[in-house]
Amino acid sequence: MILVSGATGNIGRPLIAELAAKGVKVRALTRTPDTARFPEGVEACDSGRPDFDGVSALVLNITGGSVALLEAARAAGVRRVVTVSALVVAEEADPEEGGNAAVHRALEEAVEAAVQEWTHLRPGAFAANSLRWVPQLRAGDVVRGPYAEARTSPIHEADIAAVGVRALLGDELLGQAPALTGPQGLTFAEQVEIIGSVLGRSLRYEEISADLAKQAMMAHSPGMRGEQFDSMLRYFADSVGKPAPITDEVERILGRPPRTYAEWVTDHADAFRN
Ligand SMILES: NC(=O)c1ccc[n+]([C@@H]2O[C@H](COP(=O)([O-])OP(=O)(O)OC[C@H]3O[C@@H](n4cnc5c(N)ncnc54)[C@H](OP(=O)(O)O)[C@@H]3O)[C@@H](O)[C@H]2O)c1
Repeated sequence: MILVSGATGNIGRPLIAELAAKGVKVRALTRTPDTARFPEGVEACDSGRPDFDGVSALVLNITGGSVALLEAARAAGVRRVVTVSALVVAEEADPEEGGNAAVHRALEEAVEAAVQEWTHLRPGAFAANSLRWVPQLRAGDVVRGPYAEARTSPIHEADIAAVGVRALLGDELLGQAPALTGPQGLTFAEQVEIIGSVLGRSLRYEEISADLAKQAMMAHSPGMRGEQFDSMLRYFADSVGKPAPITDEVERILGRPPRTYAEWVTDHADAFRN
């Protein structure tokens, strides 16, 4: 039995779908077990009362409460943990206190102390971050956000999930922390242009101040703390004028290239339509 936290989230959904399609037993943790819908055969479980009965592996993927869940898993004798961490851990040698790199590295270290079998997934910016533009794109053709020229290499959540499935079901990724990125470096302005070309609309990105952007992002992700947004905004600011980090880890592990940003937009086109 595999226990998946963050089961209704960006990575949780495709990861559970892939495990269920392979016939693997899955228990999905969510704060709303009565209403969250999962594929047939998947057990929904209240994340406030995680059930570790028969659980051999845990996917640690929530924006809050990860340490308590890890401690409970260790006490229950769970052997394997796959952590959803972040690329910034690999990028920042000397992470700032309270920032994303420090938060994720602390969780990685706790996992390494708790279980012998671990894999940390270190994805860069999710393509799914573009979903924060949905309300603006339903209302008009302009996206207002910070740092139009910030460049990321957006990764499709299904690629992160597919690597997670490998880490859960095989042994080849044990003790590894693969840095996972999409295949192309794209500025925010270019990402909005690609959304426009997939949707057949003429869209543009208009830069606003970092302060205004922080307020909007906090409203979109209530589970995260202010310092994490500050560190994310600094990350965007630092990325302006630089090539985005691109690794070949998705291809090494899955034997195929990562999906492009345009493929991600195509897969989520309905979300951007009225
Ligand atoms: N976004 C990026 O670009 C990026 C890049 C690298 C790493 N990461 C990391 O990836 C992880 C997942 O991020 P995400 O934005 O994709 O999250 P997400 O999948 O949207 O959220 C995961 C799930 O966690 C549950 N959850 C949220 N807040 C919670 C809380 N306070 N207590 C308990 N459960 C809670 C929610 O499920 P229920 O409502 O069903 O309970 C949610 O569906 C995070 O650790 C993030 O730092 C993100």
